[in-house]
Amino acid sequence: MLLEARNLTVSFGAVRALDGIDFTVEAGEIVALVGPNGAGKSTALKAVFGLVEPDGGEVTFNGETINGLRPDERVTKGIALVPEGRQLFPSMTVTENLEMGAFTCDWQNRNRDMEQVLELLPALRERRKLKAGVLSTGEQQLLAFGRALMQKPKLLLADEPTLGLSPSYMDIIFDTILEINRQGTGILLVEQNATQALEIAHRGYVLRLGSVFAKGTGMDLLENEALKRAFIDD
Ligand SMILES: Nc1ncnc2c1ncn2[C@@H]1O[C@H](COP(=O)(O)OP(=O)(O)O)[C@@H](O)[C@H]1O
Ligand SMILES: [Mg+2]
Repeated sequence: MLLEARNLTVSFGAVRALDGIDFTVEAGEIVALVGPNGAGKSTALKAVFGLVEPDGGEVTFNGETINGLRPDERVTKGIALVPEGRQLFPSMTVTENLEMGAFTCDWQNRNRDMEQVLELLPALRERRKLKAGVLSTGEQQLLAFGRALMQKPKLLLADEPTLGLSPSYMDIIFDTILEINRQGTGILLVEQNATQALEIAHRGYVLRLGSVFAKGTGMDLLENEALKRAFIDD
């Protein structure tokens, strides 16, 4: 088991964003968290990465509890985040943005690591001297993945990586996620685009109002009425 969240509970003041949810990612898996806006998907990722402090529950990574660790300490353990909205450094070049990924981990081997990342994301190679801010949104999303991969994670978290992209770039991002996974990295993927996310995921969880509404293999959930019901207000 790579990641295990047990009875995870997070509140923002009076708002209970996560109400005791359980989810796991096994080594080699792509796991999707889907569900309507406000369901708690981003909060779940942030709790795994240490950006929000849960008021209950436990997160273990490779069998070891990581509750209370700072995000940079979790990066050292092998967890990387592709944040919602990418959060790049727009006035820095593609190369410099990639180096920022290496900054906290493996600075000495950054050139070799960058070569591996550019191999996986060849669209970035010809752009590497450009400032990140002039790239298309889709290219910027690839760069956000590249920066996270510079940390050589065992588990990659991605929050809404296809939001706002053209359909053809959405396909490129999903293909990229599949390729990253094929090279051995576990993926926890949060997506508005539930159908395509579940099509590439081994397993998925449908969240609604801070709880797990349905779970199963990607295939099962795609055929399950619960997926549609989760998105209907009642
Ligand atoms: N920083 C915050 N302060 C207050 N409420 C928040 C904060 N972040 C999220 N929430 C609330 O928690 C709930 C879950 O939000 P979120 O995890 O962002 O959902 P999702 O990513 O599924 O759209 C929502 O009701 C949202 O308004
Ligand atoms: Mg969100």
